[in-house]
Amino acid sequence: MAMQTLLVANPKGGSGKTTLATNVAGWLAARKQRVVLADFDPLRSATEWLARRPPLFPAIAGWTPDSGKDELKEHNPHWLVIDTPAGLHGDALRDAMRRADILLVPVSPSAFDTAATQHFLDQIGEYKAIKKGDIAVGLVAMRVDPRTNSAGELEEFLKSFDFPLVAHLRATQVYVHCARDGLTIADLPHSRAEQDLEQWRPLTRWIARHSRGA
Ligand SMILES: Nc1ncnc2c1ncn2[C@@H]1O[C@H](COP(=O)(O)OP(=O)(O)OP(=O)(O)O)[C@@H](O)[C@H]1O
Ligand SMILES: [Mg+2]
Repeated sequence: MAMQTLLVANPKGGSGKTTLATNVAGWLAARKQRVVLADFDPLRSATEWLARRPPLFPAIAGWTPDSGKDELKEHNPHWLVIDTPAGLHGDALRDAMRRADILLVPVSPSAFDTAATQHFLDQIGEYKAIKKGDIAVGLVAMRVDPRTNSAGELEEFLKSFDFPLVAHLRATQVYVHCARDGLTIADLPHSRAEQDLEQWRPLTRWIARHSRGA
């Protein structure tokens, strides 16, 4: 089966790209998929997360653009999950998009995030592959605190795009602790991540629907 590529991108710094990319990779690995987590961010936060990953958890291979294409082929992954840096634009964005079957765009609820996201989504809406529907694009609301007004505003904002809002992930230290420990919510005991696994269900279902027989 040919490799499928899931790209995580939003040029806005701190929008939740690495959190989303690592957790998607962890979910796929838990489903017995061979996964390569490709780190396009020169700050290498995904690579460092992988170095912290305890050996007994479902394996995720790492890759950086300086490792070369052969190394990627040797892993023969079902899935390539790409974490991208803040500020990705122009040719680098176009190049990353060329590889993608699925694009996930994490959005955090602040006015600054939403303006940057608006610009980004307008931009990629012009790509031929997006217009033709060759790339499935899904928005993910990150760090949602249902008690604040900004969560509702974010929702309204995200609904104004042609792309579906596929999940809301709450603001919780669970993600922060996972990041610290090289883990994902798919690795935690259900009792510790019940609510979060529940929030992931529409996202994983959406990914499954847009994937080729994974
Ligand atoms: N749902 C969440 N709940 C709580 N904290 C979160 C959540 N999602 C992300 N964070 C935290 O927010 C911070 C930014 O998230 P993350 O590093 O994933 O963003 P990013 O888009 O990769 O940032 P950068 O643009 O710098 O690469 C991190 O400290 C992360 O642990
Ligand atoms: Mg990051």
